[in-house]
Amino acid sequence: MVVSFGAYAQGASEQAEVSQKGVTPGATEGAAEAASTGGLPVEDAAIVDAGEALFKDNCAVCHSAGTDVIVGPGLQGVNGRRDQAWLHSWIKNSQALIQSGDAEAVAIYNEYNKQAMPSFNFSDAEITSILTYIEAAAANEAVQTTVGSDVAQAPGENVGQDAIGAVGGYLDIILVVLILVLIVLVVTLLLITSLLKNYLNSNRKLNEYDEQVVNQRFDFSKVYKSKAVRTLVLLIFVVVLLDLTWDSAMGIGIQQGYKPKQPIAFSHKLHAGEHQIDCGYCHSTVYKSKSASIPSANICMNCHSQIQKESPEIQKIYTALETNQPIEWVRIHNLPDLSYFNHSQHTQVGGIECQTCHGPIQEMEVVYQYSPLTMGWCIDCHRETPLNTEGNGYYDKLVEIHEASSKGAFTVSSNGGTECSKCHY
Ligand code: HEC
Ligand code: HEC
Ligand code: HEC
Ligand code: HEC
Ligand code: HEC
Ligand code: HEC
Repeated sequence: MVVSFGAYAQGASEQAEVSQKGVTPGATEGAAEAASTGGLPVEDAAIVDAGEALFKDNCAVCHSAGTDVIVGPGLQGVNGRRDQAWLHSWIKNSQALIQSGDAEAVAIYNEYNKQAMPSFNFSDAEITSILTYIEAAAANEAVQTTVGSDVAQAPGENVGQDAIGAVGGYLDIILVVLILVLIVLVVTLLLITSLLKNYLNSNRKLNEYDEQVVNQRFDFSKVYKSKAVRTLVLLIFVVVLLDLTWDSAMGIGIQQGYKPKQPIAFSHKLHAGEHQIDCGYCHSTVYKSKSASIPSANICMNCHSQIQKESPEIQKIYTALETNQPIEWVRIHNLPDLSYFNHSQHTQVGGIECQTCHGPIQEMEVVYQYSPLTMGWCIDCHRETPLNTEGNGYYDKLVEIHEASSKGAFTVSSNGGTECSKCHY
């Protein structure tokens, strides 16, 4: 795959100017010298700081200075694994090094699924400062392991918290506040009644009936027996029951129009529509196997290691890779286990467009279930759709027999496509 690193190279050269101001001329010379002698100037704070800034701006999206794999390998100990000259040529242009046939370069390129690392237009001093920072970071980590790991984890956790969780949090808070308000109301009302009672009892001459009312005790059984309360309770019960049934029906995904919120705001309209990325690029097994498959985070990274890296939604993909957790897409289409459906049979053999069954996916911001996916839906199409038997010797005899006995086209159904055993195990 050819990827353009224009943005990278530009960012890198801008960074080069900034950092050269940070490093004093003496320090830069020192760094170059250290590189040629093989040792790295880890004691020189100016070089380490300049290296840290360069690393954070240019490398940290794909590498940790520790041992975690993000997109590329963790760089801790890289100065021990590799020769300095090798590292310099790799960082300047890894593709050139790979193409030159360098065994180490080819090996690591293959190990990381041939993901191209961008080229960086850095001076030797700058590269040395980055490598020095990596070395110093490892030494630091050894000193303050606990502090370091706490700090490193915090941003990941923030990004990982999804919007649904946040809304759920708000609802909880609102609920608690409402309950508090209710308690305050009840207490106030109780206070008012007792005040009124005291007032009436002490200051007034009451007749017998009024006295009875004032001193009446609160009777729970009356509330319980009241028609209004009973109706209300029944109503709440029915609503809760309906809600539960609805939810569980949604859960097994047999609802037409089902459109759950996904953990990342991934848009088919943008990817399959505007950018016209082929469905099979992401749903890579749809033409050759039963299932269409949902793309892994690595497939997203083929592009998003370069595109829109700063977007919070894209950062969720990075978090998934960093923490080695798959993105938890909510499944939309889901036939019950008792039925058998095979994608390649329909897309490859039958030549049916995705849109016939899934609707205008390339216009959907959020995917929803377009077809009912009921048995009747499958069978109707099998009855109506003629089989493409042209030039397929296997069908010649069958079509001949069919035409002798019936006027209609040779459909999927004529070929046995409505037999129970074709769709049921
Ligand atoms: C877009 C992602 C990306 C960026 C940005 C990136 N790298 Fe890499 N890097 C990789 C990948 C992926 C590999 C593994 C080899 C391959 O597939 O090309 C790698 C490999 C390496 C290696 C070899 C590691 C080893 O174990 O031998 C070094 C060194 C390295 N990168 C340094 C850097 C430095 C320094 C920067 C910043 C100036 C940087 N990389 C920026 C993706 C990236
Ligand atoms: C860039 C990658 C990408 C491309 C291109 C793409 N998809 Fe998807 N597709 C996904 C991801 C990720 C999901 C899961 C998240 C979601 O439902 O939005 C998905 C979900 C789906 C689903 C719902 C799956 C379920 O849960 O039942 C269907 C159907 C689908 N895609 C069809 C298509 C069709 C048809 C095309 C071409 C017009 C297409 N996709 C192109 C990545 C892609
Ligand atoms: C073949 C390249 C390609 C692949 C693969 C790809 N994307 Fe994209 N993605 C793009 C392009 C191009 C854009 C639009 C960028 C723009 O408009 O600036 C984009 C935009 C996005 C955005 C919107 C970002 C924003 O904040 O505006 C999200 C979210 C996204 N992609 C998620 C994904 C996910 C999740 C996957 C993997 C299932 C994926 N993409 C795979 C090319 C790709
Ligand atoms: C004949 C109708 C039909 C066609 C054509 C079709 N699908 Fe599907 N698709 C289904 C059904 C039915 C399911 C549910 C399968 C299940 O639950 O086992 C499904 C499920 C999916 C899923 C969810 C994951 C999975 O494998 O279950 C994706 C993604 C998907 N289809 C993508 C596509 C793409 C991309 C195309 C076109 C290349 C396509 N489909 C063509 C009927 C179809
Ligand atoms: C849009 C039309 C359409 C829909 C909807 C559809 N199918 Fe099909 N199906 C076809 C066609 C066309 C073929 C024949 C493909 C070929 O062999 O050329 C076929 C073939 C099959 C076969 C193989 C039949 C045989 O004789 O070998 C099975 C099994 C099957 N479909 C199951 C299903 C199931 C299950 C569903 C519903 C979830 C479904 N289909 C929905 C059009 C459809
Ligand atoms: C073209 C494919 C296809 C054929 C042929 C087919 N079925 Fe089905 N059947 C399905 C699918 C898909 C479902 C699941 C539908 C749903 O969940 O609404 C299903 C569901 C069922 C169910 C379960 C209904 C339920 O409520 O769970 C039974 C029972 C059943 N089929 C019996 C049969 C019998 C008997 C035959 C033969 C006369 C047959 N089917 C032929 C696709 C088919």
